[in-house]
Amino acid sequence: MAPKLWIFILLSIYFIFGFPVISAHRNEDVPSNKIMEDFSGYPVLEPHFQDSLSSLLVDSESLQKQIDELSTFSDTPAPSVTRILYSEKDVLARRFIKNLMGLSGLSVREDAVGNIFGRWDGYEPELAPVSTGSHIDAIPYSGKYDGVVGVLGAIEAINVLKRHGFKPKRSLEVIMFTSEEPTRFGISCLGSRLLAGSGELAELLKRTVDNQNISFLDAARFAGYANHLEDLTSVFLKKGSYSAFIELHIEQGPILEEEATSIGVVTAIAAPASIKVDFEGNGGHAGAVLMPVRNDAGLAAAELALAVEKLCILELHPGAINSIPSKSHLEIDTRDIDEERRNVVIEKIHQSAISISKNRGVKLSEFKIVNQDPPALAEDFITKATESACQELNLTYKKMISRAYHDSLFMARISPMGMIFIPCYKGYSHKPEEFAAIEDIANGIRVLALTLAKLSFS
Ligand SMILES: *[C@@H]1O[C@H](CO)[C@@H](O)[C@H](O)[C@H]1NC(C)=O
Ligand SMILES: *[C@@H]1O[C@H](CO)[C@@H](O)[C@H](O)[C@H]1NC(C)=O
Ligand SMILES: [Zn+2]
Repeated sequence: MAPKLWIFILLSIYFIFGFPVISAHRNEDVPSNKIMEDFSGYPVLEPHFQDSLSSLLVDSESLQKQIDELSTFSDTPAPSVTRILYSEKDVLARRFIKNLMGLSGLSVREDAVGNIFGRWDGYEPELAPVSTGSHIDAIPYSGKYDGVVGVLGAIEAINVLKRHGFKPKRSLEVIMFTSEEPTRFGISCLGSRLLAGSGELAELLKRTVDNQNISFLDAARFAGYANHLEDLTSVFLKKGSYSAFIELHIEQGPILEEEATSIGVVTAIAAPASIKVDFEGNGGHAGAVLMPVRNDAGLAAAELALAVEKLCILELHPGAINSIPSKSHLEIDTRDIDEERRNVVIEKIHQSAISISKNRGVKLSEFKIVNQDPPALAEDFITKATESACQELNLTYKKMISRAYHDSLFMARISPMGMIFIPCYKGYSHKPEEFAAIEDIANGIRVLALTLAKLSFS
């Protein structure tokens, strides 16, 4: 079927079935405005604070429907989700998000690479806003919760506050980041890196192409962005544009579920550094060349892999049983929340690679550190606000670090940052089995809503 026809059918389905689900929010009357002291009494707790909090209710049914509906904008069949940057499905999903933001009464704006912002003006709109958000792109055959919980959850957190009659002092802003996953152009956290002012990336994107040789700029234009624009520095945000940024996310690890803890309060995000290593030997026929005179690039790589024993990808060339590998390629992932310690590890790996290449008579033709992002620490006043939100909502929580990358890592460059984790099934992520219970998501949203409320007054 022609792609246009598909879009038409999908849009029709969307308009017929999509709207009744989401418009449920719109009809809810917003109670008369309350100021913060009426609402939560932060930082001073008022007597009626506790009663008030138990009515911070999440509309779980609508939320689950939104999560399910968003997952249908996918290039692979359910339960898997595949949503690649600037694809037709990505464009439809973006429309879905903007529509939800509009229904929640947020004013929506997009920048040149399609970071989407939905703002709820506070009563002191000249103050730097508090922001929250995540991503909705999904690597091939992944699940429907990674990132999505932090975008749909952020919009629902706004709804929770609005239904409660809350009026923010600082404006609150929901952000949907463009391309957290590196799937199409090999660049992770593309949107948030640019927001954080990466001049290097703004330059690189002018000549970046995908594996079909489609340029980043053409792909962005296909999706309706970057029109008449080569210079992407318009996306940069000044440091201080936000007073705080906080991201809600599934843990992508098993700890919260195993310990039956509702909330993870993230104190730091470990930063990965990837290393690419190439060894070259002479190759030859495996039968004819005797062991002692071989320079086996494959064994050199294997030895390095054992020396490292970290996440490691290994490719051999030629990959045939009867030939001695003449080339090998390794990709090593190292991560730590302490940048110095991580860099010491990288240096040790480099030394091992050099001595292995000498011992085995192969050439170390490349040792390249592909990216080396610094780790980021969460800001104290944000983790404190989240902790007291958990306490006031009677939810169990623990402080933890994030081993995975997030847009928050880059937002930390321009804003104080924090993250809220919720449990997910067996820690699964990036696969169709990824699952988070709606009760856990709702808990995360209530904590997010209360944290936003507090930060709006800090
Ligand atoms: C938290 O627990 C206390 C004591 O059991 C209770 O009085 C309060 O209403 C609870 N708060 C919420 C938000 O459920
Ligand atoms: C990719 O596209 C550019 C510009 O259209 C062209 O010059 C180049 O030859 C193409 N490269 C490949 C590998 O097709
Ligand atoms: Zn994510």
